[in-house]
Amino acid sequence: MYASFRSIGAYVPENVLTNADLEKMVDTSDEWIVQRTGIHERRIASDEETTSDMAVKAAKLAIERSGISKEEIDLIVCATISPDYFNMPSTAAIIGDKLDIRNVAAFDISAACTGFIYVLNIAKAFIESGMKKNVLIIGAEKMSAITDFTDRTTCILFGDGAGAAIISATDKKEDAIIDVHMSADGGYADFLMTPNGGTGNPHMSEVGGEAGCFIKMRGNETFKLAVRTLTSDVEKILKKNNITSEDIKFFVPHQANYRIIHAVGKALDMNNDKVVLTVGKYGNTSGASIPMAINDIYESGRLKHGDIMLLDAFGGGLTWGSALVPFAGK
Ligand code: ACO
Repeated sequence: MYASFRSIGAYVPENVLTNADLEKMVDTSDEWIVQRTGIHERRIASDEETTSDMAVKAAKLAIERSGISKEEIDLIVCATISPDYFNMPSTAAIIGDKLDIRNVAAFDISAACTGFIYVLNIAKAFIESGMKKNVLIIGAEKMSAITDFTDRTTCILFGDGAGAAIISATDKKEDAIIDVHMSADGGYADFLMTPNGGTGNPHMSEVGGEAGCFIKMRGNETFKLAVRTLTSDVEKILKKNNITSEDIKFFVPHQANYRIIHAVGKALDMNNDKVVLTVGKYGNTSGASIPMAINDIYESGRLKHGDIMLLDAFGGGLTWGSALVPFAGK
C-alpha cells in the first residue's frame, strides 16, 4: 500500500491585523515589516475561538473534498504549539469530539513550524505499514495566544489559522507520496522557545513572569540557519529521488519570511511562478502555514491531480523537513 495526499482544507479567522495596527502597538513601521518579512497583514482569532475550533473548520472541508465519510477515518494527528490545553487533553482528541469521530487514535505532535511535515510522515508510515487507511492530519495554531504583543521582534510575524488534509491508502503508485524528510537538532533549542510553564521552568516567576509563556526568538541567527539548512535538505530530497526543480509544479515552503523563501527558491533555481506565497496576507502561522498555502492553490483552481509539490519547513526545536508530494485529489 502507498500513502496518497487525497484532499486539503483550511480556515482563517475573519479579524485582520495590519501592519498599520501594529504601528500603534509597538515601535515599528509598515516599511520595516514588509522589507524584512514580506508580511502585510495576518489573521487573529477571537478570544472565544480555540485552536481546535479552527482545526475543525479546516478538517470539515478536507473530509468533504476527500469523498470519504468521517466514519472511515482511523487516525487523527494534529501538529500544534498552541494547543487548547497545554498538557491534556490533546487538541487532536478535542477535534475528534467536535467532528463526532469516536474510538479512533488521536494525538498531537510538537515540531513548531515543521509540524505539518512531521504529521505527513507519521500518516505515511501508518498507512505504508498497513496499520491505518485514512488519516486526518492537521496543522492548527492560535499563535496570537502565545505571542507577546509588546515585543516588536516577534509580534509582527505571527498569525492564526488551520489547515487539514486526508492521507489515504492507495495501490496507485503514481498517486503515492514520494518521500518525506524530517529532522531535528535540540542543540539549538534556545533559538526559539516559550521558556516558562513546563517542567524546565515550572514557576511563572522564574523567567520574565507571565511573559515567559510567550515565544522568544533569536531571529537573525534562526534566519541564517534556516536558509542554510533548508537549502541543503531540499537539495538532498530532490537528488535522492532523482527529481529536478523542473519536475516540481509547486514549491510550497513554510511561510515564515519572504526573504528565506526567496533565498531557498533561488538556490534551487525555482521559477517564481512555482513558488507559493501566502506570508504577505497570513504571516507566519507555524504548523498551519503549509496546508493553508496548499489550500490557497487548490481553491484558486491552480492545483490539479498529479501535480508534484515540494514542501519544506523549519522551526522551533530546532526542527526541519521537506516532502515530495503528488496531489492525489480532484
Ligand atoms: N520594527 C522595527 N525594527 C525592528 C523590529 C520591528 N518590528 N524588530 C527588530 N527591529 C530592529 C532590531 O532591534 C535591530 O535593530 P538594531 O540593529 O538597532 O539592533 C534591527 O531591527 C535588525 O534586527 P534583526 O533581528 O537583525 O532583523 P532581521 O533582518 O534578522 O529580521 C526577523 C528579523 C524578521 C525576525 C528575521 O530574523 C526572521 O525572519 N527570522 C527567522 C524566523 C523564522 O524562520 N523562525 C522559524 C519559524 S517560527 C516557529 O517555529 C514558531
